Parts: sequence; C-alpha cells; structure tokens
Amino acid sequence: MNKPLLLLIFIIGHYSLAAQKFDKLALTPPMGWNSWNTFETDINEQLVKDIADAFVSYGLKDAGYEYIVLDDGWMARERDEAGNLVADPVKFPGGMKALADYIHARGLKFGLYNCAGSKTCAGYPGSRGHEYQDARTYASWDVDYLKYDWCNTARLNAEGAYMTMRDALHKAGRPVVFSICEWGDNQSWLWGKDIGHLWRVTGDISNCWDCEIGHGSWSSLGVWRIINLRKGIRQYSGPGHWNDYDMMEVGNGMTDAEDRSHFAMWCMLASPLVMGNDLRTAAAETVKTLTNKEVIAVNQDPLGVQGFRYTDADGLEVWAKPLDNGEWAMAFVNMNDEPYELDLDWKKQDISDGLNGRRLEAGKKDYHIRSLFGHKDMGTTGQPLRAVVGVHDVLMIRLK
Ligand code: GLA
Repeated sequence: MNKPLLLLIFIIGHYSLAAQKFDKLALTPPMGWNSWNTFETDINEQLVKDIADAFVSYGLKDAGYEYIVLDDGWMARERDEAGNLVADPVKFPGGMKALADYIHARGLKFGLYNCAGSKTCAGYPGSRGHEYQDARTYASWDVDYLKYDWCNTARLNAEGAYMTMRDALHKAGRPVVFSICEWGDNQSWLWGKDIGHLWRVTGDISNCWDCEIGHGSWSSLGVWRIINLRKGIRQYSGPGHWNDYDMMEVGNGMTDAEDRSHFAMWCMLASPLVMGNDLRTAAAETVKTLTNKEVIAVNQDPLGVQGFRYTDADGLEVWAKPLDNGEWAMAFVNMNDEPYELDLDWKKQDISDGLNGRRLEAGKKDYHIRSLFGHKDMGTTGQPLRAVVGVHDVLMIRLK
C-alpha cells in the first residue's frame, strides 16, 4: 500500500475512535443542586419536586442554576429481571420519567448518580457490566446529567472505565453532562478532558472552614483543605472540562461570612456551582449569597480561566482570575480571627497569569473597581484600595 493511503487510513481510524463525549455542553461551569450533602440517601419524589419549585420561587433558576441531581440512594436495591435499573418504588412511586418531566416543565434539567463499580458507595447496584444498558435507561428517562462515582471498582482502570461509560452515553444518543467522580485518586484532570465535562479533584467536602474529618480509610475536607490541596491544577480546567471542587456547603452550618468566602472561591476557581443545602428551608442570607449575579458572572465568565493565588501574606488570601475583555476578578479572604484592614497600593502590585501571559496593569491604567458583594463602585486603581474585611469574610471585586 502506498504511503499517502496508509496515512489517510490512519487519520480516519484515529478520528473514528477518538473521543465521543457530547461536545459543546458545559462551556461554562455547570450550575445546579445535588441531594447528597444534606440528605445522603434519604431522598424522595416530593423533596425533589419541592427543590425544583424552590429553584423557581427563590430566583435560583433566574440566577443560572439548572441541574437537579439525585445522588446515591435513588435506586431499588436490586435490578429487575432483565437487569435494568429501577427507581426505588417507595421513595419515587411515580418513577424517574415523570420526575424528569416535572423538572423539565420548569425549564430545568435532570441528573442522576451511579458508579463505575459493582455497587455504589452506599451499596446500590453499580453500572459495572451494565454500562450500555444503563445509558439506554437514562436516555429513556430523559436524563441530562450523570455523576459517575468510583466505589467498589476492584481492579478497574479509571480512565478506561470512564471511557466505557462515556461511549455508552454517546451510543444511547441523548446529550448528557458527564461528571467524573474518582476524587482525584487517579488524577482525572490528566485524562478527563476528552471523557467528561467535570471531574472531582478531592474526596468529599465537609461543612467546615478548614477542618479534616477522618472516616477510617478516608477523610472529608473543609473548604480551605480542598482549595489548598488542589490549587496547582488550574491549567487542566477550561470551557467544557472543569476541575470540580465538590458540591457546595453554603447554608450548611458555616457562618454567613464563611459561606460568602466559600462561594466566592468556588467562583474564582471556575468550579461547578452545585448547591448542597436544603433549599426548602434556606435562610434569606444563604439565598442572597447563592443568587449573587455579580459573583456568579465571575464563575460563568466565557473565557473560562481558573483563578490563581496571588499572595497569602498576613493571613489574607488574595486570588486573581482573568476575565473576558481584559477584565479581572479579585478576592481578598481574611483567614484571621480579627478584621483585616486592607490598604493595597496598586502601583506596587505585579499581577500576571503565568499560564497565558495576561497581566493586570493596575499600576499603569485606571481600572474601575466594583465590589461584588457590596454591589457598589469603589473608585479606580488610581488610588489605593482600602476596606475592612471581616473575620473569614471576603472582599470580591471586578476590575474593568
Ligand atoms: C462518594 C462521593 C459523594 C457521594 C457519595 C454517595 O463519597 O464522593 O459525593 O456521591 O459517594 O454515596
């Protein structure tokens, strides 16, 4: 065979085998709600309908939240005789298709959880050996999002297992956002881009500022443990493929200031914004934080560049994120147990993004400063930035 022909066969072969994840989904970080952080497996049909209603009545839908995802515990303990997954008939008497219809009728999207192993982490039927069958089931229920976990996987290879499920979803034909959840154990950021739309970067989050809680073989991590553990992988995140810092704990017991900082940081990190609180009983302050459109705009910025730590001197975490149109976001988080008096001379700063050469020329040009939680203008970078940041609170600004 002649060389050009061989090359052509190689190219065609390469592209027909190449990645088949659904393209053009999650071009900005997915936004939604997941049942696990608050309810674990104690979920049911009425709860989910109430959450969907709360999306609309609390303005969450209007703020951009879209996916309602049922985590572990939605299934019956056994598959049916044909090996199909079935919804738990007591928790979900109307079945999953009817629930999906309810959610879709409100202009929202529907997500489910399963696991690459033989069983889910809570012991329900996993997808191992049933991937194509389960993908067809999800398509028949109009599922839009699949979170795919990593318990009970024996000697499976992670990249291969997630590829199998990706291909199964593709074969089933309904576009699905594919959420990889192997906790960073196999460094999914290195191989996840062509397979999923987001990947968890750590084990499970806990509703604390900076704690670590042991559970025998694993620990759950507070907000700053997660950030510090995975601040070095920003180059892997971008439109259609995001580092996932886990479902949020906003509204689950930290102070309002800590919730604001947690939310601000998930936005600076371009992490998916998946709420994990009980929206039916959410406090006004929690809803205010979660629906802050100026802050959300930083997360949803079309450039899709994950932010980076600029400095952390004196217990002040300073983070920067380049935005579209040459704008920037910055977050100043006070880690101290007393208020912090910020006095920042822009002329002395050299803020640049080593990944792409973008530079904040605040010392040379006058950027207009907008406070994103205060919803007010704060002058320009022609003058020093002065503000008092409360204990564990955040000053988040946009520079344009
Ligand atoms: C794992 C995941 C969690 C949750 C539970 C469900 O721990 O990391 O987010 O899905 O399983 O059992």
